[in-house]
Amino acid sequence: VLAWFRRMRENAPVSHDSEAGVWHVFRHADVERILADPGTFSSDFSSLMASQEDVARFIKGNLLRKDPPQHRKLRTLVSKVFTPGMVAQLAPRIEVITDELLDAKAGAEQMELVSDLAYPLPVIVIAELLGIPVEDRPMFGRWADSLVAPESQTSFIPNAERTQAMAVVMREMNAYCLEHIRHRRARPQDDLASRLVAAEVDGQRLDDEEIIGFVGLLLLAGHITTTALLGNVVLCLDEHPDAAAALRADTGGLPGAIEEVLRFRTPLAPSMRRTTRDVQVGEHTVPAGQIVLAWLASANRDERQFSEPDRFDIRRTPNAHLSFGHGIHFCLGAPLARLEVRIAVQKMLTRWSGMSIGEGVEHHDARGIVGAKRLPLHLRWA
Ligand code: HEM
Repeated sequence: VLAWFRRMRENAPVSHDSEAGVWHVFRHADVERILADPGTFSSDFSSLMASQEDVARFIKGNLLRKDPPQHRKLRTLVSKVFTPGMVAQLAPRIEVITDELLDAKAGAEQMELVSDLAYPLPVIVIAELLGIPVEDRPMFGRWADSLVAPESQTSFIPNAERTQAMAVVMREMNAYCLEHIRHRRARPQDDLASRLVAAEVDGQRLDDEEIIGFVGLLLLAGHITTTALLGNVVLCLDEHPDAAAALRADTGGLPGAIEEVLRFRTPLAPSMRRTTRDVQVGEHTVPAGQIVLAWLASANRDERQFSEPDRFDIRRTPNAHLSFGHGIHFCLGAPLARLEVRIAVQKMLTRWSGMSIGEGVEHHDARGIVGAKRLPLHLRWA
């Protein structure tokens, strides 16, 4: 796919794919411009999906799928609750959860990174944050899996069949989240769900459906991508032993290294938009009402933006990757994802004297997600 990106950036940076019914955009400058202009490139696909009541309910509070001005109301309210300061306070708890997961493998010569650490860590963190009981956690892991399952990803355009399948999962999620929120309304606790219920900006509050949508978004957005990123760090360090050695010697370089992994192996490869009017992108006029795939993963390798883009350089500065998006929809969970992955990698590097990738690595086949589903590791202990 990287070869395809390179070819397209060079020869057809904006191209219409009539078979899939979408426009692809490959260059950094064009991708950034699209993400910076929500008036022309809308994130609202409800006209394509909302025929289903469950889906409509599910996306009501999903700010990722909202345009201004609704996006602003939701984002302002949830940003008040989901602050970088609140995330920073989670560090000690993330350390404990990571230690517990790694302790289960103490002395082991092998582990499977995804199921032993990369998957459960973000799930547990998000669940605790929301105040979801331990016994219910496997359930939303299942929901998340079915919403990104390969069969739901065969096309980027939500068709009737896919919408129907997603609606079933969303109905379950809606019902569960609604009950959780009603509980918190009745008896607030010290968790994110209770704070969302109470949040107020300029006399506005979130209603139940908006909270459901946001909670649903957190459950999904928060863990598949972070799982992928943690696996991608391990894959990159395995391919680049010099970088691994440098980080082992000085884990202070980890934040920069994680940014470079985000650029080099972009967990969420495209962002999707819908044109609201005819618009010129590069040399093409994209008509109104078209789906546009802005390829973050291609933008991140654009030789017009990055020097030696195919070189993995943990000290790269500047590193204007687009892996968390850009503009009004910039990932709200970026501080949390960065923190979780930094803590996890730091502990892996200090616990083990070495790690190498074993047989049987499996990658996501869902289009759009770049990451391992299964990542067996051999561990060396000092
Ligand atoms: C938005 C990537 C982790 C919550 C986004 C967007 C990207 C992204 C690319 C923008 C999409 C667009 O504009 O179409 C990632 C990656 C992650 C990650 C690569 C991990 C490595 C998280 C986490 C959370 C989260 C941990 C929450 C716990 C959100 C939310 C939005 C968002 C709520 C929507 C923001 C808005 O529309 O205003 N993410 N994300 N993400 N992300 Fe993340």
